[in-house]
Amino acid sequence: MVQHTEHPRSVTFPNNDMSQFGKGLSHFQHDFLSSGLFTDERLARLIERYPREYYMITTMTQQGQKPEWRNGDLNGVSGEYALEAIRNGRLWLCLRRFDLIAPEYDDLVADAFAQIESMNPGLTTSGHKSSLLISSPGARVLYHADIPMVSLWHLRGRKRVWLYDPNDKTHLPDEVLEGIMLRETEEEIPYDQSWDQTAQSIVLEPGYALSWPHNAPHRVDNLEGLNVSITTDYFTPETKRRYGVYYTNGLMRRRLGVKPRSTSANGIGAYAKCAAALAAKKVGVKAATERSMMQTFKLNKEMPGALIDLSPAEQQAITQY
Ligand SMILES: [Fe+2]
Repeated sequence: MVQHTEHPRSVTFPNNDMSQFGKGLSHFQHDFLSSGLFTDERLARLIERYPREYYMITTMTQQGQKPEWRNGDLNGVSGEYALEAIRNGRLWLCLRRFDLIAPEYDDLVADAFAQIESMNPGLTTSGHKSSLLISSPGARVLYHADIPMVSLWHLRGRKRVWLYDPNDKTHLPDEVLEGIMLRETEEEIPYDQSWDQTAQSIVLEPGYALSWPHNAPHRVDNLEGLNVSITTDYFTPETKRRYGVYYTNGLMRRRLGVKPRSTSANGIGAYAKCAAALAAKKVGVKAATERSMMQTFKLNKEMPGALIDLSPAEQQAITQY
């Protein structure tokens, strides 16, 4: 049973405010379901054609327990079996990089972004990277913040998205955000349940999409049914600069012991930091401390939804491209 605060203080409803897309909160309808690409049959075929290096399957602890994600392996099951396992288990499957593996799905997203940009003169988005998320009725995504802007195109089931103010340094201290930008950490950022009192809480229904302010911490509780969504990462020029600022501030703090003074994403300082971040990435300055992922379980082929824990000797790093 998914636990969540019964009467969240701030509940938002679809605003269809496309002028906020790429900046603030935008909650609007989409038409992806009319493509017919999200039936069990189509999803099963999609799962089967995914190479190991482009999918992740994870399980997570319950609300109230020590937050933990664990990565696993599909163990060669059929697409139908994988869906059955997700329906019955506590699992979250992420099929990444549509651009390489699922072009027909990528086209849907590309069309939607083209429409959104045509409705918003002045909005330019880039770096679109989409993944399909298929998760259990009781699955959840732990409190975290993402590096890029994120849009979530919901397709099946119901989920509640909790959004926290990205400018509240209690929710997201600068040093933590820097660690995210440097890919040192992602899921393990500090969270206190009392913050839910001031969070925005949005129930996402099939056919609705959501995009939120850059780096806004969030978590997700699935409420009902097999949940299927597309998540698309993107950047705007402003958020790319903000990324560069925090990336470079993080490097300065960690390498030079300098306490960064400015987190503004505008002005000449911001542009210089952004250039430094790109240069550092190009020469691989941070590669050694980026986190690596281990797989610690595989699906049980006889019992849909059950997991087989791997012994330390069987555990191996998951290579993701
Ligand atoms: Fe996220």
